[in-house]
Amino acid sequence: MEKIGDYLFKHKGHVFVNNMTTPEYIDSLQTFEIRDSDIFLVTYPKSGTIWTQNIITLICESDYKDNDPFPNNFEKMPWLEYPEGHTEYSSRPSPRLFVSHLKPALMPPGLKEKKPKIVYVMRNPKDNAVSYFHFCHVWETLETPKTFEDFLQQYLVGNVGGSSWFDHIREWYTHRSEYDILFLTYEDMLMDLRSAVEKICKFLGREFSEAEVSRVVEKATFRNMKKDPKANYEFVPSDLLQKGTFMRKGTIGDWKNTFTVAQNEMFDLLYQERMKGVPFKFTWD
Ligand code: PPS
Repeated sequence: MEKIGDYLFKHKGHVFVNNMTTPEYIDSLQTFEIRDSDIFLVTYPKSGTIWTQNIITLICESDYKDNDPFPNNFEKMPWLEYPEGHTEYSSRPSPRLFVSHLKPALMPPGLKEKKPKIVYVMRNPKDNAVSYFHFCHVWETLETPKTFEDFLQQYLVGNVGGSSWFDHIREWYTHRSEYDILFLTYEDMLMDLRSAVEKICKFLGREFSEAEVSRVVEKATFRNMKKDPKANYEFVPSDLLQKGTFMRKGTIGDWKNTFTVAQNEMFDLLYQERMKGVPFKFTWD
């Protein structure tokens, strides 16, 4: 384990936030038993994780009938890499739902054998970086950057929880044929939420009526989700989330309010270099 400053550590090439998990726990995922009915959501941080988590839990809501034992989305669809609560995973009824920011190499190998469904959501990295920058001001265990320039330098070299955006996207893309995986972008979801919900339903093998799709769409809009105490993450203890919220703006193109012209030019050059051979197209504004 390599320490990166006071807030982060690196284990097997992946950067983690201190106190959220341990190298031992991450290693233990190599023997984590996967069921073919499991459903995973995988993202780089700040890419629409809690949004898609909400969509998937809404789609799977009927599985619990009237007997939903979970108080919120965090408990219903827990983060695979955070140890809290992990002991009861083996007794959870199927389908179990998990979310993760891990790269393929650290995921349980059973994902390749059992082929559970994986929804992978990505966001254009300029908005992603700005969202992450703001989040560093509200999440207690992250270092508060002095300036956006300082943060951007760390983000570009992957010295942030989740490591490098570029590596995350590339590695999941490169390994795509080993998994049953659906790639979606945050921007496509925002521009046409209904189509995104329909795609996820189809991928998960759920035949939803138009009315059922409408219900999920309605509950997953930024405005409505922000008011939903099970989904908006205001349930996070105040010693972790003191000064802000997970649901900040929820827009495309906010980077234009933060990036300087020089930062933008530098970013574009780097993007072209780092994303060679990766065919994903992002919407930037
Ligand atoms: S985390 O910490 O990794 O789980 O964060 P994550 O959930 O991936 O990303 C947070 C950003 O997603 C936005 N968000 C939404 N956008 C549109 N619609 C809905 N319903 C929605 N829910 C969350 C959230 O506002 C963060 O983006 P920014 O740009 O900071 O607003």
